[in-house]
Amino acid sequence: MLKVLFVGDVCARPGREKISERLASLKKEKQVDFCIVNGENASHGKGLSLACADELYEAGADFITMGNHTWSNAGIFDYIDDYAIVRPANFSKDLPGRGYDVAEAKGVKIGILDLQGRVYMDDSTDNPFECAKKCVEEIRKETNVIIVDFHAEASSEKIALAYYLDGTVSAVIGTHTHVQTADERILEKGTAFITDAGMTGPVESIIGMKKNAVVDKFINNIPRKFEPAEGKAMLNGVLLEIDEITGKALKIERVFEK
Ligand SMILES: [Fe+2]
Ligand SMILES: [Fe+2]
Repeated sequence: MLKVLFVGDVCARPGREKISERLASLKKEKQVDFCIVNGENASHGKGLSLACADELYEAGADFITMGNHTWSNAGIFDYIDDYAIVRPANFSKDLPGRGYDVAEAKGVKIGILDLQGRVYMDDSTDNPFECAKKCVEEIRKETNVIIVDFHAEASSEKIALAYYLDGTVSAVIGTHTHVQTADERILEKGTAFITDAGMTGPVESIIGMKKNAVVDKFINNIPRKFEPAEGKAMLNGVLLEIDEITGKALKIERVFEK
């Protein structure tokens, strides 16, 4: 049995500090074999610089997933091809980086696949369902243990992808909304699912950003620069137990620490 911890979108300095102070002890307490961290907001709320990527690995991330903010910090172009990191597989083929990869823990190969949704998001990406199918077929030549980060806005799109992939991957974990949902479960053919893992970032914020500017935007609709909020951070994610031979999920448990 393999224990995999997935940590939801690490947002700005409060999120990074939370990871640095808590991830190692959490991994120890829960006997985690492999840890995946979504890092798309780690650098000042948008993107991931090399220094911030190193901070996440040092804190205990074994692998990093990304999302719609993949390219928001230009530093990523220098290291994305060489680091343990995946960006959505349904981005343009000409872009650097990989959409999926296979890592190893406890002698078990673990596939990590990143995808981005199209509902209420940039819909110029390729169809995530078709892309997922092709990628999963490729990964399954190497391993049945596959964790999918589906970075999407609409809950319906995330649930639909989970059912579409049920039985062919170990878990479909939604990210992007920064708000954890309480619907974690294992689908009938053995795929663990949660609509959104939530955010690892500042509690007193609007999905990681300072509140006033966001509230103003909703009232006046005047373009405002959103700055990451400061202060106490929460840690959100899910803990998975997976059969390393069949790749089926045995357990999914939410992690929600304030
Ligand atoms: Fe995010
Ligand atoms: Fe996002």
